[in-house]
Amino acid sequence: MTRQGSCPVAHGPAGLPVIGDAIPYYKDPLTYTLRMQERDSMVSVKLPIPFVQVTEPEAIERVLRTNPDNYVRGKLYRKFSGVMGFGLLTLDTDQWRGPRKAVQPAFSPQRVRSDAREAVGATEEVIRRWTAHAASGDVVDVAPDLMDVAARVLGMALIGQDLSRTDYTRAAAIANKVIFISTIMGLPAMVPSFVPTRYHRDRKWANRVLDGIIHGVISSRRARGECGSDAAGQLLAAGLSEAEVSDNLRTLLLAGSDTTGQALTWTMYELARHPQARRAVEREVDEVLAGQAPAPDRLGELVQTTAAINEALRLHPPVWQFPRDAVEPDCLAGREVPAGTTVLLSVYGTHRSPEHWSDPEAYDPRRFLDDTHDKRHKHAFLPFGGGRRMCIGKGLAMATLVTAVAMLSQRYRLRLSGAHTVRSGQYITLFPSGGIPAVVQERT
Ligand code: HEM
Repeated sequence: MTRQGSCPVAHGPAGLPVIGDAIPYYKDPLTYTLRMQERDSMVSVKLPIPFVQVTEPEAIERVLRTNPDNYVRGKLYRKFSGVMGFGLLTLDTDQWRGPRKAVQPAFSPQRVRSDAREAVGATEEVIRRWTAHAASGDVVDVAPDLMDVAARVLGMALIGQDLSRTDYTRAAAIANKVIFISTIMGLPAMVPSFVPTRYHRDRKWANRVLDGIIHGVISSRRARGECGSDAAGQLLAAGLSEAEVSDNLRTLLLAGSDTTGQALTWTMYELARHPQARRAVEREVDEVLAGQAPAPDRLGELVQTTAAINEALRLHPPVWQFPRDAVEPDCLAGREVPAGTTVLLSVYGTHRSPEHWSDPEAYDPRRFLDDTHDKRHKHAFLPFGGGRRMCIGKGLAMATLVTAVAMLSQRYRLRLSGAHTVRSGQYITLFPSGGIPAVVQERT
């Protein structure tokens, strides 16, 4: 909807003094997001750090692509730095160009093709485990296996190490929670860090694990006297300081694995629930791959598989919101945005907006295959962000996802356990709370 003229942003509920509407928000941030979205596609939300929730593609495009100089990372991203350090995700654009240029070669199409081969190996490992699960007929939580695919591919791509089945995945999950709590939820992070609460103990443990991995890589590369061509190597070869290399590696390790693992988990979950979509993927992988593992340069042929993944990314965007702060006053899709406003781009709300998606709660990959998708506003679908700060790992993530979904669909179907209702949990990423209990069945 394009607005004429300019008007103030709509107000959300005033809530209580000081904490504003924190109680309903903290109780269920996703439901709260959709409730605000029903009010308007731009709504000011009163929390201890107030923000304007944006689900209007035209406004999102202006923030990310047509007027990005006016939008800095801002207050909320500054809080991310407590866990992520000062790396690609948290730095403002003037300091970000150097590290982004330095690490970009590690995400080139050629590198992604070789990482996709790693995804084949990582999925074969899951297939070995699932063969045993299928033989037993037991209900198992399949989520950890799927998270392992992402951890292995990411570890190899960034630092040449298989990080699956190590403390890393738990450390990354804890960091995901700590960032969300320290940024938005507040309370546990306000307890002084010397008090041994669960939050602080977990936070310190995760930090030690990540520090150990990062310093191990840096010192072993230095001892060998060669940098290597992976992300760690590119950062070391660029002559960045030890702190810059370390913070950027930490950022990549935290940004890449949970997100990709959750996307894979949600896709397999949705395919298990939707036989028509699942059969379309199965038909495609049988025809295109004829029993072989997917070669990296044939992933583009797997259009049904890609649509199934995109539709899971729409309903369950792993990065479900991300912020910016306005430097100067601006007009976003007809609304006045004063200088200093924190705008929270709600990927979740935008992806479920009835104005841009028909029957938005339904899982239907066909919406990415027909011509309605081309007619849709480009910023109505933004699982990887947009503009110059678009996700650097998009190619790697999609290659991992298409490879893994295709290979698993060649062999297995999941029958979800009727005894468990899968609910979405949310920290920085969206995850299936309680995992995905299912019976793994061999396709006959
Ligand atoms: C399905 C998987 C993934 C999703 C949904 C995702 C989502 C996103 C989103 C929405 C942003 C934009 C944030 C903003 O503009 O404020 C972003 C940025 C970023 N992502 Fe991803 N991501 C994924 C995978 C990865 C992977 C595999 C890596 C690394 C190997 C990665 C590293 C980054 C980095 C470093 C940035 C900051 C980019 C910059 O500003 O230069 N992501 N991601």
